[in-house]
Amino acid sequence: MPNNFYRRLIEASNLFSFRDYLVIPGRSEVEPSQIAIASTFSTNIKVNLPFISSPMDTVTESGTAIALARLGGLGVIHRNMSIEEQVEQAKKVKRAESFIIRDVFTISPGTKVKDAIEIMTKNSISGLPVVESERLVGILTKRDVSFAEMGTDVSSVMTKNVITASPTATVEEAKRTMHEHRIEKLPVVDKDGKLHGLITIKDIYSREKYSAATRDSQGRLMVAAAVSPFDIDRAMALDHHVDALVCDVAHFHNSNIFNAARRMAKEISVDLVIGNIGTAQALKDSVSAIERVDGIRAGIGSGSTCITSVVTKAGAPTLFAVAEMADAMEELDLEIPIIADGGIRTPGDAMLSLAVGASTVMMGNVFAGCSESPGNLIKIGGKYYKPIRGMGSASAREKRFAVDRYASMAKGIAEGVEGYVSYRGDLQIVMDEFSAGLKAALGYAGASNIKNLWEKARFGTVVSAPSEGAGMKDIILPGD
Ligand code: XMP
Repeated sequence: MPNNFYRRLIEASNLFSFRDYLVIPGRSEVEPSQIAIASTFSTNIKVNLPFISSPMDTVTESGTAIALARLGGLGVIHRNMSIEEQVEQAKKVKRAESFIIRDVFTISPGTKVKDAIEIMTKNSISGLPVVESERLVGILTKRDVSFAEMGTDVSSVMTKNVITASPTATVEEAKRTMHEHRIEKLPVVDKDGKLHGLITIKDIYSREKYSAATRDSQGRLMVAAAVSPFDIDRAMALDHHVDALVCDVAHFHNSNIFNAARRMAKEISVDLVIGNIGTAQALKDSVSAIERVDGIRAGIGSGSTCITSVVTKAGAPTLFAVAEMADAMEELDLEIPIIADGGIRTPGDAMLSLAVGASTVMMGNVFAGCSESPGNLIKIGGKYYKPIRGMGSASAREKRFAVDRYASMAKGIAEGVEGYVSYRGDLQIVMDEFSAGLKAALGYAGASNIKNLWEKARFGTVVSAPSEGAGMKDIILPGD
């Protein structure tokens, strides 16, 4: 007969959350403008902004991933779509900008003008290198086709004397050549005339504009993608198109999942982020079962759309989960970046997560409200909203691809809800607010950067009224 309830209660009696603690203000040596919030998402991915968008189908597709990576964060493309669609989403991010585009759309001299226009329109590009046996023979731009007959061969309207760059050209050299010749596209060819890529002025300007962007070694934006640890085909298909694969299961602490993730870690070349997990024991078991863990998603059942802890009465609130991971990591002398995931709504929540040991924070609700997220803007009673749904909600499950995230799916129980969030505007506006808020919060904690915050933060328990609205007691709000 199980009779050790009190012992078991005491073992984990402290499932604290964002409302339970505050960071006590500490002496600061720097101004908010001097505070750095750069961090690490996973072993090989450094970010200038510690904000990551959730793999949810109302949150992260290429639009959110591009906008966020340009600002220095990172998007995780959701997996509630076919493998081909997810690869295409990742490719869109990679193609969004780069110094030399390697994955160039090309046509041959015999392509009809009509077909060339179709390729340009479909892929939102304004010029196509013309190639014969891999060698560059011309370039076709929108200007060349403006007055051309649709049935004509491209060879009779393309520009034949193409100005090119060598594969070793620097950004400055490319920019100078484009200015000199008043051109916007520069094919990259080797000494035998073989096409190696394309440089565009748009990408060069974008590089200057988004100097803090999260970029790979080729200057392309970085992106991650969610996979089920059992879906090795998806992982292999995505491997060379993303910078990290993020295991996307609600409860990673499971022997079958460990076995699958161990296999996946051996097959893929990019960083592998595991999760979600919620306890120190889960971390210890995960790292001893899987040789390569490059990041960890911490938190179970705290997301804004989660009803896991209501339906199943099981959960590890994000802040608690991060603290468990961080302490276990110290004990094991490991430094795997922790991603705090679920329930983060304000820069203060982000600061608390970082203060207890996270390196970055993942948000669904906040990004769902941005203009770049999937889903249409709708107007209800004069206000604008965007849709959000949990990946375990009934409607997300109808699209079947992410069904295995929630263990109880087989029993047909929904673990997520769907609804709307207030429209917040462009992602850049939201991230500017979050960065400024986070820097201010670090300033109060007396920390100059995130590592410094880990060392300096001291916590206090909130014992009286919750902090929300504490300063508004004697204020009459409009409409009261
Ligand atoms: P926020 O609060 O930022 O949380 O919206 C985002 C995280 O919530 C998780 N998620 C779910 N959890 N049922 C759950 O229990 C769901 O249907 C669901 N959908 C998303 C996920 O970890 C995400 O990053």
